[in-house]
Amino acid sequence: MKKIIATITLALLPALGFAAGSSVELEDMTPDLHDKASLQRGLNTFANYCLGCHDAGYARFERAATDLGIPADLFTENLLPAGNKIGDLMSNSMDSKDAKAWFGAPPPDLTLEARVRGSDWVYSYLKAFYEDETRPWGVNNTVFPNVGMPNVLEGLQGVRHVTCAQAPAYDEDHNPLFDTLTGEALTVEKCGIVAQKTKGSLSEEEFEQVVYDVTNFLVYMADPIRLQSEALGLKVLLFIVLFGVFAFLLNKEYWREIDH
Ligand code: HEC
Repeated sequence: MKKIIATITLALLPALGFAAGSSVELEDMTPDLHDKASLQRGLNTFANYCLGCHDAGYARFERAATDLGIPADLFTENLLPAGNKIGDLMSNSMDSKDAKAWFGAPPPDLTLEARVRGSDWVYSYLKAFYEDETRPWGVNNTVFPNVGMPNVLEGLQGVRHVTCAQAPAYDEDHNPLFDTLTGEALTVEKCGIVAQKTKGSLSEEEFEQVVYDVTNFLVYMADPIRLQSEALGLKVLLFIVLFGVFAFLLNKEYWREIDH
């Protein structure tokens, strides 16, 4: 009995750990692998902003270009990082020992990241950086506390910081409070809120689109065969239905004489 309980506890541990680590609410991100334009923009962002540190060492440039409908010459001219050939794996030459010294933790390979963490996590994480002078890169992250990665998209997003702001006031039952004289909603000052400090080069919606696209690309990369599998699945189903019709007719034919 003891052994069984120990086994169950062991099996549950990762789940418990995961639950403990995910105290922050994640935003929904529904990938759309049919949106080629989004995937192309995502690949562009990935090549320009992420590949410098992260590998995607189980994927090849050429495969991504072909799958996303980018002609090889255009890809080579505009997206291929210097020193690479289009047939190469998406890896960089950063030494993992150097990387560990610079960032405290080496940047992990991102080929399967969207499958490991899920698209909601990756999407929320990339948006969750905020200013924190106590950290080596001056930023922290609400989804991944004390992360070693700098906010590489800060120029686009702008700086966010922890501050105090006016927030709607609620009573004990969570009903909004109103001023009895003017009818206006009451507010209280709340601290520890992450809010925009300075603007980036993009608006909030534009920035969300960039993060959506790069996450969408990571989802594609973690399972590049998914669209083909879906298409194949449909064909197989169609075949079974058609085959079923003929099997039914043949069966009828076989039994015709016997039935009469
Ligand atoms: C300057 C180097 C650098 C760049 C550029 C960079 N990262 Fe990172 N990233 C890191 C480091 C270092 C870590 C590991 C942090 C840690 O474990 O504390 C990391 C961690 C991550 C993680 C979390 C991995 C995990 O599951 O533990 C994700 C996701 C990620 N990066 C995505 C991206 C994306 C997407 C881009 C491009 C928009 C990008 N990174 C650009 C250095 C970088």
